[in-house]
Amino acid sequence: MILVTGATGLVGHHLLEELADLGAPATGLVRVEARGLGLPGGADYLVGTLDDPGPSDVLRGFDRVFLLSPMHEGQAELEIAFVDALISAGHRPHVVKLAVDGFQDPDCEVRFMRSHRLVARHLDAMHIPVIYIAPNLYMENLLSLADEMRDRGLLAVPGGHAKVGFVATSDVAAVAARVLIGDPEEHLDHVHVVTGPEALSYADVAARLSAVFAREVDYHDQSLAEARTAIHARGLAPWERDGMLELHEWARHGGCATVTGTVRQLTGREPRPLEDWLGELRGAFVGRPQELSPPRF
Ligand SMILES: NC(=O)c1ccc[n+]([C@@H]2O[C@H](COP(=O)([O-])OP(=O)(O)OC[C@H]3O[C@@H](n4cnc5c(N)ncnc54)[C@H](OP(=O)(O)O)[C@@H]3O)[C@@H](O)[C@H]2O)c1
Repeated sequence: MILVTGATGLVGHHLLEELADLGAPATGLVRVEARGLGLPGGADYLVGTLDDPGPSDVLRGFDRVFLLSPMHEGQAELEIAFVDALISAGHRPHVVKLAVDGFQDPDCEVRFMRSHRLVARHLDAMHIPVIYIAPNLYMENLLSLADEMRDRGLLAVPGGHAKVGFVATSDVAAVAARVLIGDPEEHLDHVHVVTGPEALSYADVAARLSAVFAREVDYHDQSLAEARTAIHARGLAPWERDGMLELHEWARHGGCATVTGTVRQLTGREPRPLEDWLGELRGAFVGRPQELSPPRF
């Protein structure tokens, strides 16, 4: 049986859909019981949190665990507490951990990547069998810029000329599902870097937006000071704000330009192009109200 943490989030939701389509029963960890009732694919649910995931005998019922937590200052502690709960239960299931591309690079000092690296070190030290899913930036991040695109026709990011291999969270989930149901011994310790089909500059993204929505969107390469002001206006906690600036700096220097064939290799289908994803979210970019929230990162 598979346990999916982060079941109510962007990736987790798609993952439960994929697992149901593949005929693999799964249980979602939910913090609030009411949210467990509507999980995709009629998945079962377990009420708990990563730092209090439920009784040992229940945890021992899962031989595979998808480990995902939201990006925030306490992320590493939260995931480490969950790993320790498994160990206290006398249990070492196969873990498929959602990380982020760059976490495996010891020279990448972006705090988001460092948090995942801390968890990876703990999994390693505890001898937990693990496979990593390391996505490039989610297409869903563009939702945080949708208001400005709609109101001012501007895509304002401190991106320079660098390219990003944006990936749809549905593709991340499709890969994770195949890894969860596959032979866990086959790819032990492997890092599956998951990307979209191509690396796009923000000028390319603006051109795709213009084409899909038939309205002019221009790319404005923000200065660091402009980016700082815009990120502050989003009301993020200081740790996340500084992390966003570090991430932009990393991307600006080519850290997010990776494109891999992972989606095709593991799912047998092509990764979603940006135009396809944009078309589905037309309402968020050209209409009001915006119903879908962007990821925090
Ligand atoms: N944004 C990007 O471009 C990007 C790229 C690569 C990797 N990532 C990684 O993706 C991950 C986020 O994925 P996502 O966007 O799918 O997440 P998300 O939509 O923010 O969902 C977070 C999930 O975690 C649950 N959760 C929050 N606090 C919890 C706790 N204390 N105990 C148990 N569950 C808890 C939430 O449950 P509730 O519904 O109860 O809140 C929700 O199901 C992060 O680790 C990030 O580093 C992001």
